Amino acid sequence: MADKAKIFAKLLPRLEQVIGGAAARDEKLQRVCDLLRAEVPYFDWVGFYITDPEKRGDLVLGPYRGAPTEHVRISVGTGICGRAAHTRRMFVVQDVSKETNYLACSPDVKAEIVLPILVGGAVWGELDIDSHTLAPFSSEDGEFLGKVCSLVAEMVRGGD
Ligand code: SME
Repeated sequence: MADKAKIFAKLLPRLEQVIGGAAARDEKLQRVCDLLRAEVPYFDWVGFYITDPEKRGDLVLGPYRGAPTEHVRISVGTGICGRAAHTRRMFVVQDVSKETNYLACSPDVKAEIVLPILVGGAVWGELDIDSHTLAPFSSEDGEFLGKVCSLVAEMVRGGD
């Protein structure tokens, strides 16, 4: 996708402004989802899963933009989100039909990228993005979304 670099370069300062702003944490996360979904044509579902402080093996759905999902709580190790939390590493799936340990949200979803958000060495949460396009993600997406997650981690560390 030729325009990726341009889109990401324009979007990053806007996201920095939102995440560094004065609003409440979940309002900021919601705005991040809204901006990513609105500005990147192949980001069809954008959401945050947040580690349950009461049950640290679980991820709970936080702010998101896109179709409602039945997967509001995911155990670590389950699906793409749960496995990314387990390994603490970005997980890119270019074709979800090839995955066996996968929690389907909608038959329209073709690909998914999940990035853990680490705070103090632990998984605080994750940024999860579904695409209706097959194999849409490149290293540019990983780099850009990694920066977004670092900004969110900084915000969380700062006490928001
Ligand atoms: N597909 C994810 C579940 C969450 S939805 O994409 C919103 C998974 O396999 O973990």
